[in-house]
Amino acid sequence: MKADGGPLMQLKDLRKSYRLRRSLAERMRGINRTVTAVDGVSFAIPRGGILGLVGESGCGKSTLAQMIVGLLAPSRGEIEWNGIGLSTLSGDARRVYRRGVQMVFQDTHSSLNPRKRIRVILREAVIARGLSRSAITPRVNELLGQVGLDAQLLDRYPHELSGGQRQRIGIARALAMEPSLLVADEPVSSLDVSLQGQIINLLRELNETLGLTIILISHDLAVVARVCDQIAVMYAGRVVERGTPDKVLTAPVHPYTQALLDAVPRGLERRGRQRTVLPVEAGETPGGCHFRRRCIHAMPECSDHDPELETAGSEHEAACLLVRRLNQASPK
Ligand SMILES: Nc1ncnc2c1ncn2[C@@H]1O[C@H](COP(=O)(O)OP(=O)(O)O)[C@@H](O)[C@H]1O
Ligand SMILES: [Mg+2]
Repeated sequence: MKADGGPLMQLKDLRKSYRLRRSLAERMRGINRTVTAVDGVSFAIPRGGILGLVGESGCGKSTLAQMIVGLLAPSRGEIEWNGIGLSTLSGDARRVYRRGVQMVFQDTHSSLNPRKRIRVILREAVIARGLSRSAITPRVNELLGQVGLDAQLLDRYPHELSGGQRQRIGIARALAMEPSLLVADEPVSSLDVSLQGQIINLLRELNETLGLTIILISHDLAVVARVCDQIAVMYAGRVVERGTPDKVLTAPVHPYTQALLDAVPRGLERRGRQRTVLPVEAGETPGGCHFRRRCIHAMPECSDHDPELETAGSEHEAACLLVRRLNQASPK
């Protein structure tokens, strides 16, 4: 589905740092410690598609997701929604935004209230959307149908449902708000592989039938490879490669994406070469490319140069000195 009127959302140099807890000695010496979870992310989210955001645990995916849905304020940068900066929204406009951008979480145990029956959970969501009394029950039934569940589940409590059913309820509750963007943060990571496929297919179905734009977040490249129209690969708070799946998955240019792909055991075609990343001790990489200490292609210049995304072909971008070299050798 192609968009009219530009992207749904534009992320502009988004950054988020967390302040870490300090030891007594650090407090006495006035030392502050911070961790930069998202470190300058810029890209457009096209309308009507499924964007996959992938990267290993701790690379900043959830932090980025929480900024997108408005749960966390960026330390720097801006999110534009239909061309308007989120930081400029106030009151009603902010509420409209928060309703229009919904999130689905990995952990359905903590995201659904264990003391409420499914009927109550869904009714509350529908009421929050402002439906009239007579419209509530039909809408709850409609939502259940949209996520492929039977009305007999309505009288159960969340713990009486399977993990897959609970995740469907989480999705139905988000849909109750009639969002235009759904951010699904590791929605299938706690499910068996067979159930994972069903939930991923449901997301694709909702994307197609409702025209819902979806950001699908996973640490598992095989999950995003199945349904996404666009894939963004994150490493250490930055997007290192971005593009359509046929580019990112079959012709990756960033050494990190190449290593991720080599780690996928099934479901994707195995590649000829085996690449791995080098092990690295924890800690910040001072200056230069964030990946360089784990990169098998690292060059001395990678220490001075923090690469930005640049074109690696049509609908394909990567942040790597190798790409820049190629572009300089044969300018497009
Ligand atoms: N509330 C927080 N306080 C301090 N550090 C945090 C907080 N949330 C996340 N972090 C740190 O930020 C980095 C990115 O975390 P996160 O966004 O959860 O990554 P991901 O979702 O990709 O696993 C990690 O180093 C994590 O430890
Ligand atoms: Mg996360």
